[in-house]
Amino acid sequence: MGRVAIVTGGTRGIGAAISKSLKAAGYEVAANFGGNEEAAAKFTDETGIKTYKWNVADYEASKAGLAQVESDLGPIEVVVANAGITRDAPFHKMTPDQWKEVIDVNLSGVFNTVHPVWPGLRERKFGRIIVISSLNGQKGQFAQVNYAATKAGDLGIIKSLAQEGARANITANAVCPGYIATEMVMAVPEKVRESIISQIPVGRLGEVDEIARCVTFLASDDAGFITGSTISANGGQFFV
Ligand code: CAA
Repeated sequence: MGRVAIVTGGTRGIGAAISKSLKAAGYEVAANFGGNEEAAAKFTDETGIKTYKWNVADYEASKAGLAQVESDLGPIEVVVANAGITRDAPFHKMTPDQWKEVIDVNLSGVFNTVHPVWPGLRERKFGRIIVISSLNGQKGQFAQVNYAATKAGDLGIIKSLAQEGARANITANAVCPGYIATEMVMAVPEKVRESIISQIPVGRLGEVDEIARCVTFLASDDAGFITGSTISANGGQFFV
């Protein structure tokens, strides 16, 4: 039996590609989703990967969901905190609700996903935490004060967890995707998207599999000496 991996937001977009890539690499994968039952059912039909519904913004729901995964599949060893949303608006138009929704899902969601399994990882002395941050957490983005704050926050989380987890053989790393061909990016107005693509030196959006491969590498035994790091996969749009 392979190691057990949980991928939040693991049935669509980048998360679905991560779930599939980990499964192909031999992991027992559990894919969490927040609400889209139809997409989750289709995903299971296509991949055979079991899905679990809970809201990552809710600590108690996350704790219960993760406990269910462990009871079905065994102790979780790989945690991919991928679930994320956007509520883009220029700052002068951003509402407190738009701020809070994004903080609750994207940032508290990482705490809620990692914290319940952390004691088990420490006891068993193995763990891989991989957080999907963003290019826009590294450089900021017009109309994304909320989103950029959470994605920059992810980098603080992994750098701190890397220090706390090191003695227990737990690594914590981030992947910062640039603009990837997902529903989230396709929701950006076409004109804006075209202008974004013109700023990507490789001249195209990234593919979900290009992010999934980074995650699968960070989860592997080969990546054991890499912790507190960030892989930037953005087609050359921004160098850290
Ligand atoms: N830089 C500078 N100015 C910008 C701009 C930018 N990147 N984007 C828009 N503007 C300007 C427009 O030109 C316009 O200016 P004028 O008023 O002078 O014409 C103004 O801002 C738009 O103001 P509006 O009041 O019309 O804005 P709006 O309330 O309709 O909001 C928007 C529009 C939400 C900003 C929309 O343009 C948008 O969605 N932009 C994309 C934001 C973005 O890139 N989000 C990333 C999503 S993908 C993702 O997040 C994944 C990842 O991790 C990479």
